Amino acid sequence: MAIERIIHTSADDSTPEEQELEVTLRPHDFANYIGQKRIKQNLQLAITAAKKRGEPIDHVLLHGPPGLGKTTLASVIANEMSAQIRITSGPAIERAGDLASLLTNLQDGDILFIDEIHRLHRSVEEVLYSAMEDFKLDIMLGKGPSAKSLRLDLPKFTIIGATTRTGSLAAPLRDRFGMIHRLEFYTPEEIARIIKRAAQILGVEISDDAAQKLAGRARLTPRIANRLLKRVRDYADVNGDGIIDHYVSSSALELLEVDELGLDPADRRMLEAIIDSYNGGPVGVDTIAALLAEERGTIEDFHEPYLMQIGLLERTPRGRKVTHKAYTHLGRKRSSIDGQASLV
Ligand SMILES: Nc1ncnc2c1ncn2[C@@H]1O[C@H](COP(=O)(O)OP(=O)(O)OP(=O)(O)O)[C@@H](O)[C@H]1O
Ligand SMILES: [Mg+2]
Repeated sequence: MAIERIIHTSADDSTPEEQELEVTLRPHDFANYIGQKRIKQNLQLAITAAKKRGEPIDHVLLHGPPGLGKTTLASVIANEMSAQIRITSGPAIERAGDLASLLTNLQDGDILFIDEIHRLHRSVEEVLYSAMEDFKLDIMLGKGPSAKSLRLDLPKFTIIGATTRTGSLAAPLRDRFGMIHRLEFYTPEEIARIIKRAAQILGVEISDDAAQKLAGRARLTPRIANRLLKRVRDYADVNGDGIIDHYVSSSALELLEVDELGLDPADRRMLEAIIDSYNGGPVGVDTIAALLAEERGTIEDFHEPYLMQIGLLERTPRGRKVTHKAYTHLGRKRSSIDGQASLV
């Protein structure tokens, strides 16, 4: 499979070193893509059927929080289809002309992966509709009364779109995808398997209990699991004999300030801010963002999904609310008298 990286901008803040690690650890086929069983079954069926008919698969939209494996899954699909994948992203396609040149350069069966597809420009999005539906491209030549419209035939390609927010995707665009899959958080057991596979690739020894311990703190997210593994490996190399055992992983995690639920200092700051300033909520997400001097998108894409998944935060019509479980986890007591929470 040839991966042509046209332009790739990612919403996450990973360093070049981390990006390289991601490529090294990225599974290439369904056999090595751990978890997401239902999605894999659906995709495998679609791929087998498409291959049997000698056609490309339908357009696929993958959505879900960052680091759950959308980009990875797109390359797995390409690999399983023996198709060429070209990678770009919503904001990188600035004009309809950029999209036209991307599409006309595809060949039959190629896959065009559009990351952050919710950030496509409106004018580009509209051109994409008919391209996805009829494999035709309508372009305008010239301007004003002498302008002519030209209809081009396109190769039979597949779009794989990825987004952390389906909510911000226009309905007509969403409707053009034959398959829409939401990636779910992984179970701790799946994350432990991902950690062990990564350890094997990196050539580092890790005990079962250490893998489980890391898995419990990786926000049920493969990207975080791989990051933690890397940090813990550094710790083991410097402070031990390079082997990651229970003791090494505990000490390293303490140093990283990741607590037993996988919360980092920023998560805790957010929960505590809602408790201290709004008596636990409900409070609007913009207010939380302003309070923490954090971007709304980071809160909505990264912090909230996991905090809600593990039941520390609730979404209500009037805003976000900290749950009883969060108070307990942070060692805080709910005060109903003066509206102020206090330390236990
Ligand atoms: N199912 C999986 N099995 C094993 N490893 C995985 C799996 N899913 C993801 N990973 C690992 O996690 C890393 C992050 O995944 P990926 O880049 O695909 O996430 P993403 O959903 O595209 O995130 P973003 O929204 O930030 O673009 C990959 O490099 C890969 O090593
Ligand atoms: Mg991605």
